[in-house]
Amino acid sequence: MSQELEVILSREKIEQRVAELAEEISRDYREHPPLLICVLKGAVIFLSDLMRFLKIPVEVDFMAVSSYGSATASSGVVRILKDLDQSIQGRDVLIVEDIVDTGLTLNYLRENLASRQPRSLKVVTLLDKPSRRKVPFDPDYCGFTIPDRFVVGYGLDFNEQYRQLPDICVLHNEG
Ligand code: PRP
Repeated sequence: MSQELEVILSREKIEQRVAELAEEISRDYREHPPLLICVLKGAVIFLSDLMRFLKIPVEVDFMAVSSYGSATASSGVVRILKDLDQSIQGRDVLIVEDIVDTGLTLNYLRENLASRQPRSLKVVTLLDKPSRRKVPFDPDYCGFTIPDRFVVGYGLDFNEQYRQLPDICVLHNEG
């Protein structure tokens, strides 16, 4: 079986949108520079591009979570593999994600982090697939709303492959 890649979001389009998101975030957080929490691994490319466009000072921390189940379906059980290095009590926290799909991961993470009493807690996601939601979830900032297609590149993987692609592509399996 061969796999074919179809570019749906070019690197130029991504860069332009990430810059716009950074403008908006810089405005909103002008008074209270945020702690960015990057959810590994898919969001690393987005985080590194986004933070270089920001016009405010930021700090960064990382979390790793894992949902049980197959590579393309989220099961809803979220396990923390790596927790934050620091307390977020009283901080303005912005979770940085690559994609919201069923909403289960972010729903869990938002509740978990909210219980640690940050001053504020918001979510920025590069991609949103609202048609796949299993639980209601609205990101505060969103780069692109996309249809229910399996996408890879710009940090997103299929079986840990394709994360390094500069464009976001639909992965077609050819029989
Ligand atoms: C992806 C993505 C989110 C989650 C979204 O991570 O980064 O964390 O899935 O899916 P959901 O809305 O259905 O919960 P993934 O588990 O693929 O891990 P990775 O970032 O390490 O590739």
